[in-house]
Amino acid sequence: MQTERTFVMIKPDGVQRGFIGDIISRFEKKGIKIIAMKLVAVDRVLAEQHYGVHRGKPFFEPTVSYITSSPVVAMVLEGFNAVEMVRGMMGKTDPQKAEMGTIRGDYGQFIGRNIVHGSDSLENAQKEIALWFSDDELITYTRIDEQWLTEER
Ligand code: RTP
Ligand code: MG
Repeated sequence: MQTERTFVMIKPDGVQRGFIGDIISRFEKKGIKIIAMKLVAVDRVLAEQHYGVHRGKPFFEPTVSYITSSPVVAMVLEGFNAVEMVRGMMGKTDPQKAEMGTIRGDYGQFIGRNIVHGSDSLENAQKEIALWFSDDELITYTRIDEQWLTEER
């Protein structure tokens, strides 16, 4: 395991239902560092690129319409084992199956309204970060709590 960067999106339902602060707060409390963040009105081109691997599947069109329907919050998070850790904090894709205590388990009911997205692998994280952010939007800095959070390895 290593320090990783992952791409996270608070989807339109998360923004509309007022969960931006709560979701960001969960990552902050966990000690994951936010290195980029912006509110984005997603256009069809970006949505289709983001969900390109799902092109041809029955849920592709509904998923593209869903994330273009209202603004999203896009973020890059950095931390130890961040890709897997953030996916764990989000819970299973279907909120009905996601454990309580996860973001989807606590707030969602439907697979097509599942509040958040997180990259599913390091390789996809790198692709998604490059798709959503330019290099100069990624900010490197030290958080004051880092020495209390991290264990020497
Ligand atoms: P995401 O990419 O949004 O983080 O979600 P995920 O990895 O947990 O799930 P993925 O398989 O990548 O699916 C992308 C999004 O498509 C919608 N979906 N609907 N009706 C269905 O069977 C179905 N399957 C997937 C979900 O909104 C999912 O987040
Ligand atoms: Mg996915």
